[in-house]
Amino acid sequence: MCGISAYIGYRKAYPIVINGLKRLEYRGYDSAGVMIFDGENMHLSKTKGKVSHLEEIIKSKPKSKVGNIGMGHTRWATHGVPNDVNSHPHFSQSGDLVLVHNGIIENYDTIKKELISRGYSFKSDTDTEVLVNLIEEVKLTEGCKLGKAVQLALTNVVGAYAIAVFDKNRPNEIIVARLGSPIAIGVGKDNKEFFVASDASPFVEYTKDAIYLEDEEMAIIRVGKGVKVHKIMDDALVQPEIQKLQMSLDQIEKGGFDHFMLKEIYEQPKAITDTFRGRMLLEEKIIKMSSIETYLDKFLNANRIIIVACGTSWHAGLVGEYLFEDLARIPVEVEYASEFRYRNPIITNKDVVIAISQSGETADTLAAIKLAKSMGAFVYGICNVVGSSIARETHSGAYTHAGPEIGVASTKAFTTQITVLTLIALKLGQAKGSIPQHNFENYLEKMQLIPKQVEELLQIDEKVKEIASVYKDAKNCLYLGRGFNFPVALEGALKLKEISYIHAEGYPAAEMKHGPIALIDENMPIFVIATNKGHYEKVVSNIQEIKSRAGKIIAIVTEGDVTVKEIADHYIEVPDTEEALTPLLTTIPLQLLSYHIAVMLGKNVDQPRNLAKSVTVE
Ligand code: M6R
Repeated sequence: MCGISAYIGYRKAYPIVINGLKRLEYRGYDSAGVMIFDGENMHLSKTKGKVSHLEEIIKSKPKSKVGNIGMGHTRWATHGVPNDVNSHPHFSQSGDLVLVHNGIIENYDTIKKELISRGYSFKSDTDTEVLVNLIEEVKLTEGCKLGKAVQLALTNVVGAYAIAVFDKNRPNEIIVARLGSPIAIGVGKDNKEFFVASDASPFVEYTKDAIYLEDEEMAIIRVGKGVKVHKIMDDALVQPEIQKLQMSLDQIEKGGFDHFMLKEIYEQPKAITDTFRGRMLLEEKIIKMSSIETYLDKFLNANRIIIVACGTSWHAGLVGEYLFEDLARIPVEVEYASEFRYRNPIITNKDVVIAISQSGETADTLAAIKLAKSMGAFVYGICNVVGSSIARETHSGAYTHAGPEIGVASTKAFTTQITVLTLIALKLGQAKGSIPQHNFENYLEKMQLIPKQVEELLQIDEKVKEIASVYKDAKNCLYLGRGFNFPVALEGALKLKEISYIHAEGYPAAEMKHGPIALIDENMPIFVIATNKGHYEKVVSNIQEIKSRAGKIIAIVTEGDVTVKEIADHYIEVPDTEEALTPLLTTIPLQLLSYHIAVMLGKNVDQPRNLAKSVTVE
């Protein structure tokens, strides 16, 4: 959480830093701040609220925009309420150093007390102000340069951080460091300029050369000289790897859509195609995934697969459970990463752990991976963000090729995660012989049709909007599904609650009569996934039970359905496919529905309150 954007070079820093913050606002938007150095003075502007508010404030301070060095921050509050004072950047006591930080310094209180005893005083309640003063204290007591002071100070710090630090007495350098929170360095031509950011989006139009720091590394960035990377623990030099960015500017802009979420919903046909392209080979009748092939024995001989993830990725993991057990006949457990990591799980080297994460930075998922590895498990990652911490921490893995997902509510990440899980389940099923070859080929053909079917489904947007207008004022909603579509019900409920703030719960349809049925009356909308395969008749019975208690039914049915259409108050049709593939279709109208309800209620769809895209704290 929190976004860092900084620049040092020959261009005007302010527009680069502020636009960078706008692109990183998905990481947190409790407050924003920027420091611009004009060659002599550091100009600080910061405020509670969004980057647009900060921009308004700076409009009346033209001097605060002049300079070729700048550092900005958009905050998701941890220590200290979101107010102007707690906003970043933070100065050291002397006013010489300035620092922005993403993460949590766990031992900040002990350090703060020690610094107070040495005469320091603090303006804010943040752990970040403690860190910048610790660096200053080390610099003064050791009589060293900023780089050395940062390295020594960080050896005393417990927690997680990505930081950027600037010393006005050394105006051609910025120091950055990371432990547990991401930081990327954009390298300009001939080392004449450098960009620092939580991800590469703020500098993609200026350079395609990026260095991603590893955990426990720091970098001294010097204009005209280059980037020196050191290990924080022992100061050893590391050769930095410069990666070529694949990201383009139009991928991170709205492209004519009102919101990123809507754009990302509409990108799903392409995202799913990109995810199976080159992997699903129809002519050869195989699935080609070297990340699985190299470790095929691990999967085939596994006692079980344990899937760890959070939020929407956890819902994709639940779909994975149905896929792996049904198609590959391998037992699966799906765990919340946050529970798994703290419940002393029994893991052996016969277990395969699959970690799913869009961002590849989720702290709990990362910790679950480290734990599983330490207990001997083979760990496979499914991530969207290339080069992310989880992608690097796992033994092997596959990327979803969804492209950058900027809306805080996950959409295309979910369907592409399910796509990867389907490919793996089919591949393992074929290798094990648990899927007859003609069924396997049928799946490939049906999978190939999915992007087109999603495209068709997106055309029902107007109908979904009408349904949204009927139910937008509901206070509570239920989402029901069975089998492969039970996780889709959970995901539908999560989408609604996170962007519209309407209370919503997902349930396996049959569980309804064990409690939630008590909630049903004429004011309760119930979204039921009732596709024609699997447990159709059973779901129809559940719908009847709801109708006899006056509940309102909005059903997702297969094209050509007769029975449910007659009973339901509203229905949305999805194209026919194999039951195991239905989540890729049934989830689309539920995403659109949440989107339209949130828009109608005037909510901030892309940046819902209290949330952040990348949850890098526990
Ligand atoms: O980046 P990750 O997939 O690891 O993120 C996990 C959750 O934080 C994320 O899915 C969250 O639940 C989204 N807001 C859901 O829309």
